[in-house]
Amino acid sequence: MAVITFANTKGGAGKTTAALLLTTELLHRNYRVCVIDADPQRWFSKWYEGAALMPRLSVETYVSAPTIQKIVHERRSQWDFVIVDLPGLQSPLLASAVGLSDHVIVPIQGSSMDAQGGAQVLDLLRYLDRKAGIRIPHSVVLSRVNPAITTRSMQAVKRLLSAQDIRVFDTPIAERAAFREMFDMHRPLRKLDNAPTAGGEKAILNARAFADEVLSHVDIGKAAAPAYAARRDLQALETAA
Ligand SMILES: Nc1ncnc2c1ncn2[C@@H]1O[C@H](COP(=O)(O)OP(=O)(O)OP(=O)(O)O)[C@@H](O)[C@H]1O
Ligand SMILES: [Mg+2]
Repeated sequence: MAVITFANTKGGAGKTTAALLLTTELLHRNYRVCVIDADPQRWFSKWYEGAALMPRLSVETYVSAPTIQKIVHERRSQWDFVIVDLPGLQSPLLASAVGLSDHVIVPIQGSSMDAQGGAQVLDLLRYLDRKAGIRIPHSVVLSRVNPAITTRSMQAVKRLLSAQDIRVFDTPIAERAAFREMFDMHRPLRKLDNAPTAGGEKAILNARAFADEVLSHVDIGKAAAPAYAARRDLQALETAA
């Protein structure tokens, strides 16, 4: 139905965490999800390999630039959601994956210094729109935000992005121990044993609100055959990158 890509050329921005939160929330809502792990570090795949079997989840691993187009095309028709987790560096995969997406989510850490990797992705999206007429819906999610305080630098990043007409999710992803524990324990957020003590209830509310917002921005109905897909020339995308 819909292909959603998490992209930021900076490492550690929170892509895999956000991708896992969205995936497990979608599974919780009975959607069938295929994750394309396009990061050679395989963080998502490692989580999956240690987790209990989840019948509505499939994870494609070792996906690279030459194979991503075919895999995404095939999986799009077979699964409710295809979620692409990109590596935290510049790679030819970025343009291919972005070009195949119905929505690109750019997690940016809530401090201006960290906005640079996100800016590279946003520049690419802007370039494709202006030079090639390829408009790919996208949003920024502020990640790893201190839940106790709304920091000044986070507000500054938000203002900067809004001034450039870049949509910023109302729901930031907070910095929470429970989000780290998902990886340590190889479990979905809602299956963490000690969830309440690790701020788990708030973490679940956060994940739910994030997924709600993603679903409200991604046009699931139309995504089966995006109107702009036919106009996409992947070679042009790769050249642009
Ligand atoms: N919201 C969060 N709360 C707590 N820890 C977080 C959060 N987001 C990310 N982290 C931690 O920060 C580290 C990097 O996060 P993550 O792997 O999600 O980033 P990434 O953008 O996918 O990185 P890479 O570019 O290396 O793939 C991980 O150790 C992760 O557990
Ligand atoms: Mg990652």
